Amino acid sequence: MAKGLRKKINNSQFIFPDKNKDGRRLFVDGEVYVKIQGLEKLKKGRVIVLQSGMPEPNSSLIELEMVLEILKDKSISPEIFFTYFPYGRQDKVFEPGETSVAESLIKKFVNYYKVRKIYIIDPHFGERPWIKKYPIISISATPLLVKKAKEDWGKDILCLSPDKGGQRRTGIKGLSKERINSFKVRHFAPKILVKGRKTAVVDDLISTGGTLLKCHDTLKKGGARQTIALVSHGVLADGILKIKKRFKKLYLTNTINQKTANVDITNLIAGAL
Ligand code: R5P
Repeated sequence: MAKGLRKKINNSQFIFPDKNKDGRRLFVDGEVYVKIQGLEKLKKGRVIVLQSGMPEPNSSLIELEMVLEILKDKSISPEIFFTYFPYGRQDKVFEPGETSVAESLIKKFVNYYKVRKIYIIDPHFGERPWIKKYPIISISATPLLVKKAKEDWGKDILCLSPDKGGQRRTGIKGLSKERINSFKVRHFAPKILVKGRKTAVVDDLISTGGTLLKCHDTLKKGGARQTIALVSHGVLADGILKIKKRFKKLYLTNTINQKTANVDITNLIAGAL
């Protein structure tokens, strides 16, 4: 993606952290190594840290903190662009003794590391009221996915969200599933007539694939003629595979580097920056 972006954003320079002595970014025990060259030059321009938040959320966040600390040491206040924000589903205190991880991370980026702006593609917490307290720019890949689906499957395709959160995030009506806490979800029957229709389930992410599989079966039971899936973030390859097998077609963006991604978001990033 960096190559494509470089062409699209004029006068931009891409810097990749150095690797350690054995040519890797991780030590053998899994610890992350970060070294950034040419920091003095960065003081003059606009600095954007581009993060995919994957393939492994924990080391990706440690790496990000190390980059931010290195920039802070040079009094550089960067922006961050998350193509995918990890820990996004832990976005509220569901039960006493928990923390809203997503908000704690953002608070720390802004207050401690002095991050100016945080761009995020389809954050899971997009509809949480706390988001307004921070300089977050939320960008949606949904219009791009819907456009692709309509080009290939016709304008009459019925787009549906799998749950209330999705409905609040995208404004697309749909099925009903509600998260009760970090572990449990509850499913409700669909309220929209799908009999004989071409349907597209629009979701922010695939992890285990359980949500979309459930949606597929519910829509089929309701008599839907065809069911495709439109998804912004492909978190787990196994889950993606299940969805590809069960649905007529999966449109998945490359916010996370997955082989199966077939919708490119380079223009979306370039447009936002
Ligand atoms: C739920 O609130 C999210 O929007 C996704 O629907 C969900 O996290 C997908 O996870 P899985 O693929 O494990 O069902």
